[in-house]
Amino acid sequence: MQKRENWGSKIGFIMAAAGSAVGLGNIWKFPFTAGDNGGGAFVLIYLVFVVFIGFSIMLTEFGVGRSKELAAVGAFKSVDRRWTFTGVLGVLSGFLIMGFYPVVGGWALAYVFKVVTGLLNNPALIGDSFNGFITNPGLPLIWMVLYLILNVVIVVKGISSGIEKAGKILMPLLFGILIIIAVRGLMLPGAMAGMEFLFKPDFSKVNGSVILAALGQAFFSLSLGMGCMITYGSYLSKKQNLVQNAAIVTAMDTSVALLAGIAMFPAMFAFGIAPTAGPGLVFVVVPTLFAEMGALGPVFALLFFIALTVAALTSSVSLLEVVVAFLIDEKKFTRKKAVFSSATIMALLCILASLSIGGLGPKLFGTGAFDIFDLLTDKIFLAIGGMLLCIFAGWRLKKKDLYDEITNNGTVKFGLFGVWYALVKYVIPVTIAIVAINGVREGFASGSGPIMVIGLVIIAIFAGISKKL
Ligand code: PHE
Repeated sequence: MQKRENWGSKIGFIMAAAGSAVGLGNIWKFPFTAGDNGGGAFVLIYLVFVVFIGFSIMLTEFGVGRSKELAAVGAFKSVDRRWTFTGVLGVLSGFLIMGFYPVVGGWALAYVFKVVTGLLNNPALIGDSFNGFITNPGLPLIWMVLYLILNVVIVVKGISSGIEKAGKILMPLLFGILIIIAVRGLMLPGAMAGMEFLFKPDFSKVNGSVILAALGQAFFSLSLGMGCMITYGSYLSKKQNLVQNAAIVTAMDTSVALLAGIAMFPAMFAFGIAPTAGPGLVFVVVPTLFAEMGALGPVFALLFFIALTVAALTSSVSLLEVVVAFLIDEKKFTRKKAVFSSATIMALLCILASLSIGGLGPKLFGTGAFDIFDLLTDKIFLAIGGMLLCIFAGWRLKKKDLYDEITNNGTVKFGLFGVWYALVKYVIPVTIAIVAINGVREGFASGSGPIMVIGLVIIAIFAGISKKL
């Protein structure tokens, strides 16, 4: 067998995996989702899920990927054809996330240019300008296509050369700018109310929907439950310490999300922007904050949107890679053909998603394409995908094989192996099932229930026809 292409270096792998994890999920989605779900209690539940479920599943994905040296679908299929559907479900999630992610990636790219062309000149208009832009039927499409083209270029070039380099340079830059924004925001009068909102739990605001949102956020932000980390793990060398890698990536991802929260909320409260301002949050708060900073403002704003675009890119290329790896490994496509065909379908989905923001295009149960793709993946497919992976690892794979893989045949110490195994085999599947059932039930009150049920039906159908996949 041909030796599998490997990551250039240890730091290269961590940067690529963290690059996949850190993206719009942390900086765009986390703050407004925390805002929508009442703040502190949501954040606390999210953190608990990250530590117990997120880290454990990341380790499982790395382990499964590296032991089989195959991307998501192949890894499941090589063990048991009945489990192939779990991998295919991941590919479907990849398509659907890429059905809206590049829309927001396009906004970030557009903002690089908007900052240069005077967006910050009139702070009072920043909010209106954002809403006008994203509801425009034409303009965001151009930026989305440009953004997708960047993805295509990187993924056509193959794994280590393209993805690795981008991550190494831009991640530290992003981190630095977020710190500047956070410090600046905290200095504004009234900022502390924002910290309180973000970190002081008010459990009266917790219900099944909030808990499912926290679970979905943990999965989405850590790039879990859809085979992405399985695929990345499959390129990982046998010498690497999986436990340490999983811990570092989880910690980096979570600190960026918290930092993004600390960068957004104090400034928002100081400016009197409501925490429930929704998807526009970063695009309004950050320019407003920098507009008040004098001559340096536009420079920082520019760096921020460049870094945000690159953070988004290192995530979306990993999504695209899951789909592409499937087409290459299982359907024998060439890399080029795989990238072009999948990107074309993604572009079509993104057109629907982008139009739906302005209220155009088809709706299902009153929900537009953008929200449908988000609901299906974030609330259902990723969490259930993670649950299935745990059942697969805990009940279908041998404990001894898992131990050998995760500890590099006993050479790496992992004292918590027993705890991790019990979590994966029993605790996580049961927890996800309960959270999902409650979340879907409560979703009927807010109108998202029917779409989530459709998601569950799709999974059931996939499971039913699994051997044909
Ligand atoms: N984790 C990425 C982000 O936070 C999104 C993502 C989800 C990437 C799933 C890959 C797989 O932006």
